[in-house]
Amino acid sequence: MTDVTTAPSAVSASTAAHIEATERCAAHNYHPLPVVLSEGEGAWVVDVDGKRYLDCLAGYSALNFGHSNERLVAVAREQLGHLTLTSRAFFNDRLSGFAQALTRLTGKDMILPMNSGAEAVETAIKVSRKWGYEVKGVPAGQASIITMEGNFHGRTTTIVSFSDDDVATSGYGPFTSGFRSVKYGDVSSVAAAIDDTTVAVLFEPIQGEGGVVMPPEGFLRDLRALCTERNVLMVADEIQSGLARSGRTFACDHEDVVPDIYILGKALGGGIYPVSAIAADRDVMDVITPGSHGSTFGGNPLAAAIGTEVVAMLEEGTFQARSAEIGGLLRAGFEPLIGRGLSDVRVRGAWAGIDIDPTLMSGREMSEALMVRGILAKDTHGSTVRFAPPLVASDDDIAGLVAAVAEILDAASRPA
Ligand SMILES: Cc1ncc(COP(=O)(O)O)c(C=O)c1O
Repeated sequence: MTDVTTAPSAVSASTAAHIEATERCAAHNYHPLPVVLSEGEGAWVVDVDGKRYLDCLAGYSALNFGHSNERLVAVAREQLGHLTLTSRAFFNDRLSGFAQALTRLTGKDMILPMNSGAEAVETAIKVSRKWGYEVKGVPAGQASIITMEGNFHGRTTTIVSFSDDDVATSGYGPFTSGFRSVKYGDVSSVAAAIDDTTVAVLFEPIQGEGGVVMPPEGFLRDLRALCTERNVLMVADEIQSGLARSGRTFACDHEDVVPDIYILGKALGGGIYPVSAIAADRDVMDVITPGSHGSTFGGNPLAAAIGTEVVAMLEEGTFQARSAEIGGLLRAGFEPLIGRGLSDVRVRGAWAGIDIDPTLMSGREMSEALMVRGILAKDTHGSTVRFAPPLVASDDDIAGLVAAVAEILDAASRPA
């Protein structure tokens, strides 16, 4: 496979200047496509040369409600004129509404607000361990958490300690102990890994970064039953799968399952501001006491104002319904391409992972070819590309995406 670089030789002077300065002065922890964006509205973004692109990454699903969503921008602007940060040393008049709204949406008694997704995952780990010691009675220092192969939960040292992605872990040891990894979607492996020290099972109901990988039907229900039976917390990382991306409010809803802890982020901040939280019932959350956990920005009034509006929008149900509709279009468009350049297609809501025949092209090459056609998407694991357009994308937008993928595959299949 040819190594395709982002050398900005074929781009405008303005694009080249932005890329050069970014690469020179910012760490190379990403390998971006050579496009420099400056505007966004709805499902579309515009680059510094005025070229429009359909955004099929949507900030890794942080932009479920679209770029510059009118309602969210209005709320943010309004709040900027009042109060943006108090720290939790004091109460503020927006956190009360946000906490009530998010407990209503999740059906849980309490939330613990943070900022990034990784911080919320760390919070869930800490709460689970403390619950294990104080409520379940696990001997001090022995708590274990079961995680899934192929997971992605963020980038902190503890979180990468249970990642099986070499690139994400290499050079970062020593790692945090207390995690046991089992096969994703295999409830008997989870059952076999549980012992008296197990406090939680941490999982993604759909593995997004893994390539939109779904567990077998029934896994979530069986896992719920197992966790209840063995007195282990079921901890669902819905940071990417939640808040309407999968066609339901939470991906766990597809099997009518309620975890003990929801971990939320990304779209909770409407793509405007980092907002994350965990939600749990009082018997779990009450292990958190003053000083035992915190964050300078967690629960700040600006975040809370935006998060409250996000919940209000989700309570109307229209984004979930549109996500499911987009999913129907993606499935109908991509499935016929299996055997015509694709080896597998996975769709749930407005979220699709396509596996490209690696002899035709890599996922990166597909993403580059889509970029030329005005569509932005991101590859993962070599030959997979995932699509997660904002839920405000039109039927025509989705038809354009499917047509572009088909055209690229056809062109790659033709003999040279
Ligand atoms: C399932 C899941 N958990 C956690 C995270 C980490 O979120 P953040 O990048 O905001 O720390 C991500 C990010 O992609 C994610 O997809």
